[in-house]
Amino acid sequence: MSARLEVVAIDGPSGSGKSTLARALAARLGWRHLNTGAMYRAVTLAFLKDGVDLEDPAEVRDALSRVDLRMEESGQGEAHVYLGEEDVSGEIRGAAVEGLVSAVSAIPAVRTRLVELQRIEAQQEPLVAEGRDMTSVVFPDARWRFYLDASVEERAHRRQGDFQQAGRQETLPEVVEKLERRDALDSGREHSPLQWVEGVERIDSTGLDAAAVLALVLERMQGPDVNEAEGRREEHGEGTP
Ligand code: DC
Repeated sequence: MSARLEVVAIDGPSGSGKSTLARALAARLGWRHLNTGAMYRAVTLAFLKDGVDLEDPAEVRDALSRVDLRMEESGQGEAHVYLGEEDVSGEIRGAAVEGLVSAVSAIPAVRTRLVELQRIEAQQEPLVAEGRDMTSVVFPDARWRFYLDASVEERAHRRQGDFQQAGRQETLPEVVEKLERRDALDSGREHSPLQWVEGVERIDSTGLDAAAVLALVLERMQGPDVNEAEGRREEHGEGTP
């Protein structure tokens, strides 16, 4: 068996289009989409509900041991996140979680626990995994690794659209400010910061729509490796993209 994992690892800052790309790519390959940002958001929500003091390591450890996190896909390939029996997929997109998630995801114990879960997922089935440390820390041996970026203005426009869909009205300057603050926290933290590492394909999606980014990634995946992925999909009897 190859040492390379059957994983497409995608990293990038907020609003770079990672989730849109990962979802489309997973649907195309017939692989599972693992949104690791949603996992950090769910732990943040659990901590908020428990009123955990993030400065207290024992409290964090205790709360973490109570987190019962499950990632599932509906029949339509829609990703759902559960805390226990509760579907929290909508709640994790709210402003309260958004404001605290960078702080929670900087806690080493939280990262250790979630990285463990992410690697277990990859042992079970081929994955398109997106986040901040997929290419650098969690799956450095992934068969394909991409770093997706876009200008801050374009990323802010995309995020504003997401917010509007979720019923949140925020001005563009507000969204830019929040994005820059979160990017600085995610890239500047000590443990597993968002970073581009040697050997990872960079893609700038500024000015490209989702279909163009997907086409670019599929093109970069051409060659023996992608043929293997296609073969696997057929072996599993999965649908044609
Ligand atoms: O992708 P997102 O915006 O839903 O991610 C939410 C937060 O989670 C983001 O601020 C950084 C953190 N995160 C992380 O630290 N590591 C990951 N692999 C994914 C997300």
